[in-house]
Amino acid sequence: MKDPRVAEIAEKAKEWTLEAGSRLNLSRQEKLNVEYKTSAADIVTQKDKEIEQFFIEMIKTTYPGHYILGEEGLSDVLPSDTQNGVVWIIDPIDGTTNFVHQKLNFAISVAVYIEGEPTIGYIYDPIKKELFSAIKNQGAFLNDQSLSTLTSCGMEEAVICFNHLWLVPNEKIGYEKMQRLVSDVRGVRYLGSAALEMAYVACGRLDSSLDFRLSPWDIAAGIVILNEVGAEMTTLENKAINVFAKSSTIFSRPGIHQHIINYLS
Ligand code: IPD
Ligand code: CA
Ligand code: CA
Repeated sequence: MKDPRVAEIAEKAKEWTLEAGSRLNLSRQEKLNVEYKTSAADIVTQKDKEIEQFFIEMIKTTYPGHYILGEEGLSDVLPSDTQNGVVWIIDPIDGTTNFVHQKLNFAISVAVYIEGEPTIGYIYDPIKKELFSAIKNQGAFLNDQSLSTLTSCGMEEAVICFNHLWLVPNEKIGYEKMQRLVSDVRGVRYLGSAALEMAYVACGRLDSSLDFRLSPWDIAAGIVILNEVGAEMTTLENKAINVFAKSSTIFSRPGIHQHIINYLS
């Protein structure tokens, strides 16, 4: 049965995501204050905080009973139990390094989970003006264009996505395995925004996207969108992804997912 709340919440989420995108687009001329979080490779700007605050204000005013989980931790209405109620999961800027260095290839990622169910997802690239969206059981879209169910492909036809850290000694995966993998696929790309990479898998621009450790706000919206196009998704250990915990992730079109896991094991 359709939940009558969903269409209305989705409309609001879309409106606020587009508004946040316009604000980020305009702010590209502004001077950015870049702060380090855990290291020089993990940064935050005043814009990340302003956009998260904008969502918090809109959600709290419109839906006082909803919970909010945002990357910058500014929410005072955190869910105590993620399996209950309506939970918004927000990454105000996914790809902050790109936002600072390139002024492109970043996105706003907004998801709504209802009683723990991935229900609404928006990923918006305000520079390309591309809005990826999905509502559970209602299909996925790139702007107004419906996205098709993903078909399978062979490894030799696949363009996959992961960052350079996989190809040097690391704690997760023997890099020799990754060297074998990269020599068997058609190409490797890295975008630097996990949310956009998931959206690109959904629309077929990438065939698989791999990450060592992503957080709820990186993947929550992408999961809603990828569910609608029949993507496969697991941890590196081929386990189900728990969206509310930090996790390794692989998101792929059918056909290559298991092959990739075989290379890693
Ligand atoms: C990061 C990006 C990046 C991924 C990192 C994320 P942020 O998010 O999605 O592509 O590799 O793990 O933390 O910090 O730019 O929101
Ligand atoms: Ca992020
Ligand atoms: Ca972020």
